[in-house]
Amino acid sequence: MAIRNARIPAMVAALLFLGAVTTLPYPTAEAKSKMQKQAFGKIQDGQSVDLYTLANKYGMTAAISNFGATLVSLKVPDRDGKLGDVVLGYDTPADYENGKAYFGGTIGRYGNRIAHGKFTLDGVVYTLPLNDGPNTLHGGVRGFNKRVWTAQDVSSSAGEALELTYASKDGEEGFPGTLLVKVVYTLVADENAVRIDYTATTDKDTVLNLTNHSYFNLSGQGNGDILQHQLTLFASQFTPVDVTLIPTGKLQDVHNTPFDFLQPMAIGVRINMADEQLKFGRGYDHNWVLDKKSPSSLGLAARAYDPQSGRILEVSTTEPGVQFYSGNFLDGTVHGKHGKVYAYRSAFCLETQHFPDSPNEKDFPSTVLHPRKTLHSTSIYKFTVQKAGDK
Ligand code: BGC
Repeated sequence: MAIRNARIPAMVAALLFLGAVTTLPYPTAEAKSKMQKQAFGKIQDGQSVDLYTLANKYGMTAAISNFGATLVSLKVPDRDGKLGDVVLGYDTPADYENGKAYFGGTIGRYGNRIAHGKFTLDGVVYTLPLNDGPNTLHGGVRGFNKRVWTAQDVSSSAGEALELTYASKDGEEGFPGTLLVKVVYTLVADENAVRIDYTATTDKDTVLNLTNHSYFNLSGQGNGDILQHQLTLFASQFTPVDVTLIPTGKLQDVHNTPFDFLQPMAIGVRINMADEQLKFGRGYDHNWVLDKKSPSSLGLAARAYDPQSGRILEVSTTEPGVQFYSGNFLDGTVHGKHGKVYAYRSAFCLETQHFPDSPNEKDFPSTVLHPRKTLHSTSIYKFTVQKAGDK
């Protein structure tokens, strides 16, 4: 079933109401949207949630659920043109609801960690649930990835697009202010890319850090580990952490460390080195400080190349940082889509973000949002291929 954008311009709606027109002065690109909507299943409270499939002319598809504004599948061609699903996930919304891995979810109100679940804003101390040892991770016990969002088809000539909105109440998971969040996924019409645009407004000062938590395996989900993927991170510094993965507040130069991905390097080459930071992360689980023109300009964050499939992923963002997480907590106990078992380090995340624990670090770029201001953030995940023998 094709769903249509309900936003009919006011004048046309008025004419329709008066019975003055029988044919609309359409079609527009919106009316031509072929976005597919299907029932995804039910969550615990009995609500039904849906799955929307966006496609472009190259055959690339992205399936998104309004449960958690989650990217459920992403099918992109390999060097032979064969489509493969390159993100991890589950087959049912119940699995997403019970899962602990945040597969493909929209993370909020605050992506990554807040030390001891506490921060002070405008002189008030806020206390959040602790769901990661002594810290708060990814927005608390029930973050944005476990909420039901309202979906609308907003496709245009730029590509098929799904808008998801969510109103997070004042005090939800301990955060101040009612926050209205909008996430638009666009499957770009003229290249194989998914663009994610975030906007948010609040009625009270608050902190926020929105990201997408897709786990990528460019050989296809459930298809071996990612240690041979060659990664480039466009970042000369990272934020070192303590044993609970809270930043120390310092920025460290990556040169002469296993954190130097300025030139393409297979993920597995240095991952098991005797290095305190790697020990704390059980591998890579750190925030890199992006070398961009300015921290908020749209620029390249990362590039990953999989020699097996030839697929290349390039991530661009307006965020100042990226969390590169090498799937260290995947341990073969999670059964994902189509019965695939997700083994140790069988996927990686590139979470575009503000730095972890920024509410407690005055020298990090601010994550405070004030009323009457709108947060805008964009990240683009673009796929190409490298043919065998190409340099
Ligand atoms: C965190 C990891 C965590 C993973 C899944 C990442 O963003 O940095 O430490 O295990 O998300 O929860």
